[in-house]
Amino acid sequence: MNKQKKIKIVQVGIGRMGNYWLKTIMESKEVELIGVVEINDQLIERRIKEYSIDRKDIFKSLPEAIETTKPDGILNVTPPNIHEEIDLISLQFGVPVLSEKPLSDNLESAKKIVDESNKTGVLCMVAQDYRYTKQIQTLKKILLEERLGKPEAVFVNFFKKLPLKDILEYCRKMSHLLITDMSIHHFDAMRLLFKSELNSVWARGFNPSWSWLEKNSYVIAVLELENGIKISYNASFSSLGKETSWIGDWRIECEKGVIVMSKHSSQTGYLPGLEGETIELFTIDKKQIKVEMENLEFEKQAYLLHEFYRALTEGIKPATICQDNIKTMNIVINTIKSIETGLEVRC
Ligand SMILES: NC(=O)c1ccc[n+]([C@@H]2O[C@H](COP(=O)([O-])OP(=O)(O)OC[C@H]3O[C@@H](n4cnc5c(N)ncnc54)[C@H](O)[C@@H]3O)[C@@H](O)[C@H]2O)c1
Repeated sequence: MNKQKKIKIVQVGIGRMGNYWLKTIMESKEVELIGVVEINDQLIERRIKEYSIDRKDIFKSLPEAIETTKPDGILNVTPPNIHEEIDLISLQFGVPVLSEKPLSDNLESAKKIVDESNKTGVLCMVAQDYRYTKQIQTLKKILLEERLGKPEAVFVNFFKKLPLKDILEYCRKMSHLLITDMSIHHFDAMRLLFKSELNSVWARGFNPSWSWLEKNSYVIAVLELENGIKISYNASFSSLGKETSWIGDWRIECEKGVIVMSKHSSQTGYLPGLEGETIELFTIDKKQIKVEMENLEFEKQAYLLHEFYRALTEGIKPATICQDNIKTMNIVINTIKSIETGLEVRC
């Protein structure tokens, strides 16, 4: 494919996150929107007005959209329980797909997507945007350079108040919303930063009396990675009073000191990276060094679109192909298993 030309994309799902993706596509120099698939008529009317989308480019089914528009790629921004259906259609039509996280809402379904991608040889890439924030990329660089030596113990705290009014319909039906929809970002960042897979996990989930989620609005987990790094993970979706950022507060204990990432302002937003996080190094000889955040040419969804573009035009394999991303799902699934059985899960 000619690298100078924009790749042509059909986006499936134009809800809350779909809106963010539409904005990102409109700003992209590499990707062009040629079709939309959506089943909600009200939303279709809204987005037609907001983005001046031509009515002829709106479809109710993906096969019809693919046959009519012949896209280079599909962007799947439907709820997690619909991901399998959309990804399988794309792969069977031989069209590469960039699909929102989680890969799917259960392991069997996630495996079917991976099998289909293997069978057809068609790309299925998962959108793990937190990887491509300044914050996570800066931590990655500090660890890669071993500025404080090797890490061995990690403490991640994530506390948010997610009001019931902000919880979408599909989320209300998920019995492990916090882990499946949110902690997945933190787990994926752990795999990226510490370059290792899950060895074991022990977890507890519970609801305090003030929780408005049906269950497990708090999670406490102890994870051990194959390289021996131990991680203490605390998370909540019904935390009152003081919240962390979406990326969370990270304390990485290394041979020669501690790396601390925490939120220092009261700013908040729906997406990560806007909440005034700072990263500091505390050295063994009591020095405190504030680290400048990495400057990124592309961030979050813009990075993912760029990576998808490069995969389609230059054949460069993306980092979060479904064959890799199922290992992030593996942490999600085993953490849930530990909560449900009350036992430590060894992988
Ligand atoms: N990376 C992030 O930070 C982040 C943040 C929020 C949501 N997400 C992910 O984005 C995905 C979508 O979440 P959302 O918040 O936009 O949900 P949403 O409910 O607002 O939007 C989903 C849209 O998909 C449409 N849809 C459902 N079935 C369809 C089908 N068969 N064909 C076409 N359209 C269909 C719905 O009508 C809806 O408009 C989820 O996987 C979620 O986990 C990611």
